[in-house]
Amino acid sequence: MSKALIPGSFDPFTKGHLEIVKKASVLFDEIVVLVAKNSSKNYLFDTSTRALLIKDAVKDLHNVTVDCFDGLLVNYANKNNCDVTVKGIRNFTDYEYENSMALTNNKLSKSIYGSGITTLFIPCSPEYSDVSSSLVRLLLFQNGDISSLVPNESLILEYFNKK
Ligand code: PNS
Repeated sequence: MSKALIPGSFDPFTKGHLEIVKKASVLFDEIVVLVAKNSSKNYLFDTSTRALLIKDAVKDLHNVTVDCFDGLLVNYANKNNCDVTVKGIRNFTDYEYENSMALTNNKLSKSIYGSGITTLFIPCSPEYSDVSSSLVRLLLFQNGDISSLVPNESLILEYFNKK
């Protein structure tokens, strides 16, 4: 059975992320969207809220599950018998950053576990090339309209207004 991980901060999950998850879900038998719990990073939404928002957005995709992870991605991948990760690419800047991350993860998994993890890049559609979690966060603080950027505006507003 083919399985791929889609790791990220997802703070919060956007329509751009959803497009990549949908594209990956037809390429693999199983997809795990992995929410990073990096304790040194200040997220707007806590880990469980970010995971809940993703679960809501992917509820109709039957081969997609959501999990959270701390520490190295390659450790999670090895423990869960997975050697493919998927990343969405919006532009050249994303490519440069993600490619260096992909090389690091490949080398790291080879040196720790003896087999290299592969990262598959999926380009996003032009309509999502300007969609980012940071733009969503900025608009939330400015009472801007986020409806075109996220799959579940009302749920995000509910959690944002609880803060
Ligand atoms: O959505 P983001 O913020 O670009 O996601 C980055 C993420 C969480 C995928 C990346 O930082 C990550 O994999 N972090 C876990 C630690 C790790 O394995 N780093 C790479 C090798 S140093």
